[in-house]
Amino acid sequence: MKPTSKKSIQYKDLLNQDTELTIWLDLSTYCNASCPQCHRTDINGLGKASWLPLIKWSIDDFKKKFTKQSLKSITQFEICGTWGDPAMSKDLVKICKYIVDNSKAVISINTNGGIRTTKWWEDLGKFCGERLTVFFCIDGINNEMHQKYRRGVDLQTTLDNMEALASTEAEARSFVVLFKHNQHYIDDIKSLAEMYGATRHHVIKSDRFLTNNIFKFTNAEGKEETLEEVDINVDQKIRNNWINSASDNLMGIQGKTDKTTYVPSKQREVDR
Ligand SMILES: C[S@@+](CC[C@H](N)C(=O)[O-])C[C@H]1O[C@@H](n2cnc3c(N)ncnc32)[C@H](O)[C@@H]1O
Ligand code: SF4
Repeated sequence: MKPTSKKSIQYKDLLNQDTELTIWLDLSTYCNASCPQCHRTDINGLGKASWLPLIKWSIDDFKKKFTKQSLKSITQFEICGTWGDPAMSKDLVKICKYIVDNSKAVISINTNGGIRTTKWWEDLGKFCGERLTVFFCIDGINNEMHQKYRRGVDLQTTLDNMEALASTEAEARSFVVLFKHNQHYIDDIKSLAEMYGATRHHVIKSDRFLTNNIFKFTNAEGKEETLEEVDINVDQKIRNNWINSASDNLMGIQGKTDKTTYVPSKQREVDR
């Protein structure tokens, strides 16, 4: 019997209909940081993973894919991405202004916040107003704690940029990733972020310790280092407590019963 031919739905088919679309957008595979567990980071030296091409969208690239007409179907842009930081796209302000001027969509941006000037962030907030929410990564109460994970990102720069954005009608929120080294500082991190204008907080456990409670890597100086998983109960304070069952399931599949017995995983994206 001949297989039934299925016409796959294409992005262009979804636009210009009565559908309301949320777009998740990777604007750049460039990043100023080298967080050890990020999918773009090579665990041997913390450079960019060699297989990842370097791509950055300009305002012209964006306009080609998102015509003014197509923007009418879109109610939300989530400019986070998986492979880089949106603020590395030099046209991010222009792109957001184009969205705001030509649609009713709201925008959220996730960023380490460690690049661009306070004026740049203030302009971004002024152009977008209350239709923009920016999540700034704040992983510590001082630079040392912050850079245990957010390598290459000066905490004070991020806080100053968050304050600049928060001085406008746009909303600033903190995004906190928890490890053993910052697990006792959740409330202090929130207070610090609030001092610099954050109105809300998105706190999660690192979701990259699925089968090992330790994560091994080689730092930029060629030295072996580790990150460790949260080892206290923070389930009342976080957004992703489902990660515990995801972890149990994957351990089961791999036939592991003990996370403290380190086994390098073949699935790089899931857990090294
Ligand atoms: C690859 S980042 C891209 C956006 C931006 N560069 C940033 O870090 O916010 C995508 C998301 O992954 C999150 N993330 C990074 N490392 C993580 C980890 N170990 N566990 C869970 N989420 C993580 C970031 O905080 C961000 O929300
Ligand atoms: S800031 Fe975001 S994109 Fe950059 S390395 Fe860290 S997690 Fe990855």
